[in-house]
Amino acid sequence: MDHAPSGTQSRPMASRRAPGPLSGRIAVPGDKSISHRALMFGALAVGETRIAGLLTGEDVLRTAAAMRALGAEVIQDPDGLWRVAGRGVGGLTEPTDILDMGNSGTAARLLCGILASHPIFSVMTGDDSLRRRPMRRVIDPLTATGARFASRDGGLLPLAIEGAPDAHSLDYRVPVPSAQVKSAVLLAGLNARGTTRVEEPEATRDHTENMLRHFGATVEVEIVGNSRIIHLHGQPELRAADVTVPGDPSSAAFPLVAALLVPGSSVTVPSVGLNPLRTGLFLTLEEMGAAVAIANRRLEGGEPVGDLIVSGTALRAVDVPPERAPTMIDEYPILAVAAAGATGTTRMRGLKELRVKESDRLSATAALLSVNGVKVEIEGDDLIVHGTGGAIPGGGRVETHMDHRVAMSALVLGCIATNPVSVDDVSFIDTSFPGFVSLMAALGAALGAAIADA
Ligand code: S3P
Repeated sequence: MDHAPSGTQSRPMASRRAPGPLSGRIAVPGDKSISHRALMFGALAVGETRIAGLLTGEDVLRTAAAMRALGAEVIQDPDGLWRVAGRGVGGLTEPTDILDMGNSGTAARLLCGILASHPIFSVMTGDDSLRRRPMRRVIDPLTATGARFASRDGGLLPLAIEGAPDAHSLDYRVPVPSAQVKSAVLLAGLNARGTTRVEEPEATRDHTENMLRHFGATVEVEIVGNSRIIHLHGQPELRAADVTVPGDPSSAAFPLVAALLVPGSSVTVPSVGLNPLRTGLFLTLEEMGAAVAIANRRLEGGEPVGDLIVSGTALRAVDVPPERAPTMIDEYPILAVAAAGATGTTRMRGLKELRVKESDRLSATAALLSVNGVKVEIEGDDLIVHGTGGAIPGGGRVETHMDHRVAMSALVLGCIATNPVSVDDVSFIDTSFPGFVSLMAALGAALGAAIADA
């Protein structure tokens, strides 16, 4: 079946052992989470929001198109700056067609929150991957605003949404560690009367809270033990605010791990977002023996940013505790690749949420390693990788299951494998990291023509 993003063909590719060390300084595209939010907040604010460094990956372009369909003006200037003329909180208008969120769970779930408290009718769908992902986790809490949702069996997209004309504010304890669910509830709370309260038992990325403040909303965060309790005062007037999007740490992870694995390498990725709720991978790599140097630390648009520098290092196995998962939830596939190149057995604990990502990422990550000769097991929700100390046989064909991060992880594995690693379809990489292949090639990686089927 051809699963590639609309209008494109599946693109197979192979990654061969790097002919020499990887080296150079390369900027990665803007943070995906912050990019979605900047467009959404811009559309909900009064005035013109200017966004520098927006990720122009497929996922974010879906959000841009949805905000346009809901009445905001969203323009990209020739110099790359994006400008959003917002409609104000509660001011979005009924779309004349179905909102297609493509491959993006973040776009779909956050938008459900916004639409729940707008008195308009809309229908939302997505690609084959997104139509398999659970939406009940947002439908259930958002129904308590007074909004009505009709979905496919099991809470799957397509969804029809009738937003509440006079939304009730919510008091909700998020049952799974999910920034998407937290954000959906907070976004619904923007156009609800009174105060919305969201409790998360484990802290997840707080870009929504940061951006709410940046646009002028009143948000208070209480820390009680491990829980965070967020209070948002409803119906504020959001004021347009300029946003500078930092480089995406989840994208930077791929060239940085490649540089750690290929002996003699040295790679710098400038201006990477270093929000502490996103940096679990860098901490874990340090525990594996990597020196992740951070230069030029600074704050940009309320988010910490720095330049990351790593060099080829012999890595050792690590035991990653479950409570770290929310701070590196998107980084397990590439961490598994690092673990495959390390010495010793790495255990990554508590990865239940990986089963409901763009693919069942727990299985897809295990399969990507095992078809390339790395011993791996799944025990309950834990992933166990038996490191090879760098001697990765390769030669396997990885199925990406419409998952950009599985595709990029497989291509990085190929950089140190004895035989080429083939990937069935790299087209989904464009959802989060347009330019990945040429950027890796600029560092010295050998990514190219697929191996012909025998
Ligand atoms: C995201 C939250 C995470 C992450 C996703 C982006 C966000 O999902 O996997 O890539 O921008 O809020 P969950 O919150 O569902 O874990």
